[in-house]
Formats: sequence, structure tokens, C-alpha cells
Amino acid sequence: MKYFDEIEKSARERNIPVMEKEGLEFLIQTFEEYQCHRCLEIGSAIGYSAMMMVSNINDFVVETIELDENRYQEALKNIHEQQLENQIEIHHEDALTIPLDDLKYQEFDCLFIDAAKAQYQKFFEKYMPLVKEKGICIVDNLDFHGMIFDIDHIKNRNTKQLVKKIKRFKDWIFNHDEYQVTYYGVGDGICVIKRK
Ligand SMILES: C[S@@+](CC[C@H](N)C(=O)[O-])C[C@H]1O[C@@H](n2cnc3c(N)ncnc32)[C@H](O)[C@@H]1O
Repeated sequence: MKYFDEIEKSARERNIPVMEKEGLEFLIQTFEEYQCHRCLEIGSAIGYSAMMMVSNINDFVVETIELDENRYQEALKNIHEQQLENQIEIHHEDALTIPLDDLKYQEFDCLFIDAAKAQYQKFFEKYMPLVKEKGICIVDNLDFHGMIFDIDHIKNRNTKQLVKKIKRFKDWIFNHDEYQVTYYGVGDGICVIKRK
């Protein structure tokens, strides 16, 4: 685990956003509870969360997509150093445009959305059809540091736009006829979404 701690620390020092420990523990527990074995992750960064998942869950594989070239290269290096190539399939692509046929797997037990927050709904609509009937989707950062509860007081225009988009996704998914959403106040707000 020391190796993973160092990766996490190094990412934070360089302002590369990686999942909080508390959130990751929740993710791992939830995937175990739902007996998930195959995960599609949107937003790999340097591979930290994918490596944590496959190293802590039995019989688990992750297919993950990262847009940024440098982060993708670093993730590849990290995955190789830990000899996790058999369990992690990583793509250097924009998750909004990559053809679904390019994915190695065509069916997943779980979807973990951890990329551009303004695009949550697009990611969800594109990838949820690949999740099995009884599968789940986990979305992180839904509170956006609490700002979502006080949008009127956000001064920065771009931040305000982003928080509004997150709120729009939250309202949309919580009121969706086909999905049941459970919110957990873990880390920055996590939702577990399943089909009704
Ligand atoms: C929060 S980080 C992912 C952290 C990672 N899951 C972890 O916890 O170790 C979000 C990543 O999504 C990537 N990203 C943003 N938009 C994307 C897109 N359209 N397709 C693929 N990756 C994207 C960003 O470059 C960034 O590295």
C-alpha cells in the first residue's frame, strides 16, 4: 500500500485530482456488496483509483478512459510498474467521442463516473446501457465542496456555471422514472444509482 500512498501524495502535490481515501473505501465496499467484477471508469487521471480497486477487490477488472495525454502516459507507467496490465485496460481518448466498439468489454457490473463534472449526464446516458440490468453507477463530487447548496453566493462565473450543471444533473437523476438514487455524504457527496 506504500506505493499507492506515494502515488496519491504525488498526485495531490501536483494538483492532479484523485479520489479521497474515504470515497475510495466506500467505492470498494459498495462494489463488493453488489458483487461487481467488471468496472468501467470515466476519468483515470494517473490510474490511482483503478489500481486501488483491482488491488482491493477479488477478481476485479477495470476498463478506464483518460483524455489528458500526460496523465494517460503516467497511468500506463504506474499500471506497468505494478504489473496490473491484466486487470486494467486504459484508453487515451475523449470519453464523449470514443466509439463504444473500441472498448474491450461490452458489458459491465458497474460504471464509475469521475471525469468532467459538467458532462455527467452525457457520460451517464452514453455508458449506462453497457451496465448490466442489476448493475450500478457511482458518481462522485456531487456536492462540489458544499457549493451546490448555496449557488447564489458563488462569485466566480465559471464555477457558478459548473455548479449549476452539477445541480441540473442531480435534479435530473433524482427525478428520473427509471433510476433509483441513494445519496451518501461521504467525501464530497457520492451517489449510487441503480435501475428501479
Ligand atoms: C478526478 S480525475 C480522475 C481521478 C481518478 N479517477 C482517481 O481517483 O485516481 C478526472 C479525470 O478525468 C479526465 N477527463 C476529463 N474529461 C474527460 C473526458 N471527456 N474523457 C476522458 N477523461 C476525461 C481528466 O483529464 C482527469 O484526469
